[in-house]
Amino acid sequence: MSSLTSIGAEGKTSAGKPIRVMIVDDARELRESVRAMLRLDERVEVVGEAEDGYQALERIPEVRPDVVLMDINMPGLDGIGATERVVEEHPETAVVIISVEGDQEYFRKAMRAGARDYLVKPFGMDDLVGAIRNAYRLNAPERAAGATSLRRGATRLGQVVCVFSSKGGVGKTTVTANLAVAVAAAGHRVVVVDLDLEFGNQATVFGVTPRSSIVDVCRTQGPIPSDRVHKALTHPAGTGVALLAAPPDPELAAEVEGEARADPTRSYVGEIIDTLRADFEWVMVDTATNFGETTLTALDRAETILLVTTPEVPALWSTARALSILTERLDYGARVKLVVNRARGVGGLLTREVAEALNYQVAFEIPSDGAVAVAAANSGRPFFLTRKKKPISRAIGAMAQELLGSQEVHGQERPRRVAGELSGAESRVRGVVRTNLLNLIFPSGGQ
Ligand SMILES: Nc1ncnc2c1ncn2[C@@H]1O[C@H](COP(=O)(O)OP(=O)(O)OP(=O)(O)O)[C@@H](O)[C@H]1O
Ligand SMILES: [Mg+2]
Repeated sequence: MSSLTSIGAEGKTSAGKPIRVMIVDDARELRESVRAMLRLDERVEVVGEAEDGYQALERIPEVRPDVVLMDINMPGLDGIGATERVVEEHPETAVVIISVEGDQEYFRKAMRAGARDYLVKPFGMDDLVGAIRNAYRLNAPERAAGATSLRRGATRLGQVVCVFSSKGGVGKTTVTANLAVAVAAAGHRVVVVDLDLEFGNQATVFGVTPRSSIVDVCRTQGPIPSDRVHKALTHPAGTGVALLAAPPDPELAAEVEGEARADPTRSYVGEIIDTLRADFEWVMVDTATNFGETTLTALDRAETILLVTTPEVPALWSTARALSILTERLDYGARVKLVVNRARGVGGLLTREVAEALNYQVAFEIPSDGAVAVAAANSGRPFFLTRKKKPISRAIGAMAQELLGSQEVHGQERPRRVAGELSGAESRVRGVVRTNLLNLIFPSGGQ
């Protein structure tokens, strides 16, 4: 469509073509009913659909809608976050929010994000067509400016990997840093975001003293421009990885996620991740050990959640609880990959026992190697760079390979139980271990 088209007398574009509309809503029935409604009006044409914000952002460049009808509550990137991104990256496309949320708070958020109109469900055909036409008209200057993507034509968003644990000290930071280095070594653009806001130590693992951190990004007024985030990145030499470091002082965390935020209604962490994923193929997030707002924001955006544990009862006790929250309450099932770190160490449980005790498949096992891991931590060089042949590095390499290979693969079912066939004798011995384990991890007897 010409960028100079404007709405004509009969409501079509002046080029006589219908207004191109895309429907973004996770409810299929809603998409179908809107489609059916709009079929009756020749001034508009539905040219595409998406189930959530990320899918919408992926499809907009090829579908090139004039107006996007955007739901708010959707899994993945919600409608508010998606609206901000559409307005920034595809200003020639106008957004009309369609939501069951009638609250003024939602309305204000949507308008601040740049939506042109707001319809509360259920709505009638006249209101819908009216809102589409109005949004199209209001967006005429942006179309006329022929504004195109600010994102250098990037159409594919980076993958977010969130490394999380329910017990401290199990190896989140070690895994994040080495995995990032391994993925970068395979030729990919990677950024590590240290969201352990109070005591994050990615900078020490990479042997750098950052001049800037995440807190500097959050001191920005208005929407966070991509170059502001880039300026805050540190580039540890010879790693191929960019790092957005945690604040240099725990007190500063409040400026990122707490009351001291410049604008307490904003999720700076969410905005930063969304900005980074537009520019990097991989966003690796190191987290604090809690289910606080910052962690939840990262988990929600993650295609892959690496839940790190160690093969000992205290860690498994909390991992069992975290798993149930992640898979049942938060419904992240298919994205959660269990990582057993410090595996095969003296006195540790077998990985198979971990899987059985948690009733969850172990996706990755990283062997225990204190000599290599601690020496690397002390030298400020991730071991994947310096001790590449060691089993601990090979395990990280295999993990990177698997992630890269599964870049397109989502939605596998959570396996109910690890098969793990045992021999008769082994089974009797392990049966005792398993019963004891379950009693310790689930004292009330139920899983
Ligand atoms: N596979 C391993 N074998 C031996 N030591 C390891 C292994 N992985 C990590 N470590 C060591 O364990 C310690 C804790 O690791 P790390 O800091 O990565 O854990 P964390 O989960 O990030 O901790 P926190 O909860 O404090 O953020 C470090 O000294 C690290 O070198
Ligand atoms: Mg850590």
